[in-house]
Amino acid sequence: MKHLLSAADLSHEQALKILDTAEAMAMTQSRQVKKLPTLRGKTVVNLFFEDSTRTRISFETAAKRLSADVINFSAKGSSVSKGESLKDTALTLQAMRVDGIVIRHRFSGAAYRLAHAGWSDVPVINAGDGNHQHPTQALLDAMTLRRHYWGARGGELAGRDLKGAKVVIVGDILHSRVARSNVDLMGTLGAQVTLVGPPTLMPVGVEDWNCDFTYDFDTALNTEPDAVMMLRVQNERMSAAGGGFFPSVGEYHRAYGLDRSRFERLPEKTVIMHPGPMNRGMEICAEAADSPQSVVVEQVGNGVNIRMSVLYLLLAPEGGLL
Ligand code: CP
Repeated sequence: MKHLLSAADLSHEQALKILDTAEAMAMTQSRQVKKLPTLRGKTVVNLFFEDSTRTRISFETAAKRLSADVINFSAKGSSVSKGESLKDTALTLQAMRVDGIVIRHRFSGAAYRLAHAGWSDVPVINAGDGNHQHPTQALLDAMTLRRHYWGARGGELAGRDLKGAKVVIVGDILHSRVARSNVDLMGTLGAQVTLVGPPTLMPVGVEDWNCDFTYDFDTALNTEPDAVMMLRVQNERMSAAGGGFFPSVGEYHRAYGLDRSRFERLPEKTVIMHPGPMNRGMEICAEAADSPQSVVVEQVGNGVNIRMSVLYLLLAPEGGLL
């Protein structure tokens, strides 16, 4: 495998290799000197055509911890704002002889196009394309859940998948690349995923996905899940589509928010996840977001471990993701 474009492209073996390598990377990050020489002499470009805090910073941190040189490119302030195309941007980077490209783009398929259109011959990592895929987010979610799921049962993590874990993903499924990536990866790893959201925010054809779905959050909670993953309501994508997906913030929160009463019903074993950024008071209440059951900050930390693992496996001569 040369690129990481979709969580659906990962075999069970490849997914476990990334997770196990991320655990090995995590062990190096508690040392006083966190930097490894692995990617010395390589240059990684972070090509961000869409806003990001966690993904952009953690890819930069990961590459630097592996001793790569990092170029951060943001569409704002670049020649993209003068109308330069993705193709010409890619050809410009190719001329500068970069070794790997991390791309976030608001259009689904942009990462695939960059990898396969012949504009670039280096590994491409998808950092989120439209509502399509965000594979490293799903990997960091799986890493976080695996620690808690097996941590509660004891024993080694290496080589273990998520067989038997129950994951409930709630909210704006329609616009969510995080939901799609997690359905793919969690399915590969043996977890049972249930999607929850209003009918207007459930994608057409969801009945054919490798998961269950329901419009009733409380019924899904009755299954005593190991994780409840709350999704951000993506107001910017809803406005672009003309709005009208639900009557009001209050009604959305009552039906699909992790409010105080649902939070208090959660079993002790259930971890609360959110990819960020959170809309507090809309999809999640502050009590839940800040509770000891919340692993939101841990997810961000694991983002660095997973991205170190992926950069190492794709870019280091000895990495060999396949
Ligand atoms: N989870 C996530 O992709 O966050 P950012 O948009 O801040 O990168």
